[in-house]
Amino acid sequence: MPIDVTAARAATPGCQDLIHLNNAGAALPTHDVLTTQIDYLQLEARIGGYEAYTHEQARIEQIRPTIARLIGADPSGDEVALTVNNTAAFDLFLYSWAISPTHAPDPGDRILTTETEYGANFVAYLQLARRFGIEVEVVPSNDHGEIDLDALEASIRRTDVGPVTLIALNHIPTNGGLINPAAGVGAIAREYGITYLLDACQSAGQIPLDVDELSCDALTAAGRKFLRGPRGTGFLYVRASILPSIEPIMLDHSTAEWLEPDHYEIDPTARRFEQWERNHAALLGLGHAVQEALDHGLDAIATRVQGLAETLRGRLTDDVPQATVRDLGRERCGIVTFSLDGADLAAVHAALRDAGINVSIVPPASALIDTRKRDLPSMIRASVHYYNTEAEIDQLITELLRLR
Ligand SMILES: Cc1ncc(COP(=O)(O)O)c(C=O)c1O
Repeated sequence: MPIDVTAARAATPGCQDLIHLNNAGAALPTHDVLTTQIDYLQLEARIGGYEAYTHEQARIEQIRPTIARLIGADPSGDEVALTVNNTAAFDLFLYSWAISPTHAPDPGDRILTTETEYGANFVAYLQLARRFGIEVEVVPSNDHGEIDLDALEASIRRTDVGPVTLIALNHIPTNGGLINPAAGVGAIAREYGITYLLDACQSAGQIPLDVDELSCDALTAAGRKFLRGPRGTGFLYVRASILPSIEPIMLDHSTAEWLEPDHYEIDPTARRFEQWERNHAALLGLGHAVQEALDHGLDAIATRVQGLAETLRGRLTDDVPQATVRDLGRERCGIVTFSLDGADLAAVHAALRDAGINVSIVPPASALIDTRKRDLPSMIRASVHYYNTEAEIDQLITELLRLR
């Protein structure tokens, strides 16, 4: 079923006053996602925070299974940990992997990643490289800008350098329309028995995700982006088969049971990566947002988002002489990035905001390898969601032409 855009807009308070094209930053929540949180906060204020949790425990315990449905994980939700953002989830897995006896890398081992890797992920690799003496290797991209699967395999097969012990990369980079061939990477990772960590921060809620098709061992996402959940939420998926061998970098006495003064046992599920204290209002909002995405259907969302993004790219190219679309990829997503010849982007950003249009500016360090390789100037990022319209794209184009 195609998205009912009129209904989706009516359900979204922000759509009434605003043209929101910063969905890759944080998308607009629906009224119901908002009231789910407010109602829970009011309950906490009325009956007490711990008491509110007991009252709503059954609903809160459904959040992980709902996320599991989104990504095709085990329906129990036992492979899902709730986190505060994407980076927390990504680093929890990465640093835990690094200290786990069965995975801990030896000096000279290699982590493979992609040219479009996100800054937060890359600096974490660099820290591990410094700490453990491992190498971070960037796999070249193919002519479409995707991670080159032949180059990936060739790199894994090299015998003149240390073995590859981890493949870690983003599915959709922060700075453009590219969708990396994540399932192709997964097939190679599986063939060579290499642990595979996928950053689905920008793909969750935007395109269908299935952890079995992707063949990833771990996957991370933020709630606030295309999932339309609250800020300060995210999740980590870890495949059941690898879970027991990943020792969390941090424990508390809810994620590890303290059984004797000198003995504890770590939770067998992905809860081992959580902490006891959490923002239940925000997490309930996340659960609701994920359910809404499932109700719309991820295929329908992807079709609508990709169609709108292609319309925007076409309009920028055809109608705005000073704009150059910078997006890579064959199948492109809802993130549209473009440069504007001779423009002061901060001024354009502010002028658009004054006209009621939200976009963002992509700083070079968000994906430094790609920025340097393509010699990219600062770019405007206009990221569409299914509730955006062709009329809104029209208004963006009109404003850009007015600002010339
Ligand atoms: C591809 C990608 N990965 C990771 C992140 C970091 O997400 P968070 O801010 O939730 O940690 C972002 C944020 O924009 C991103 O675009």
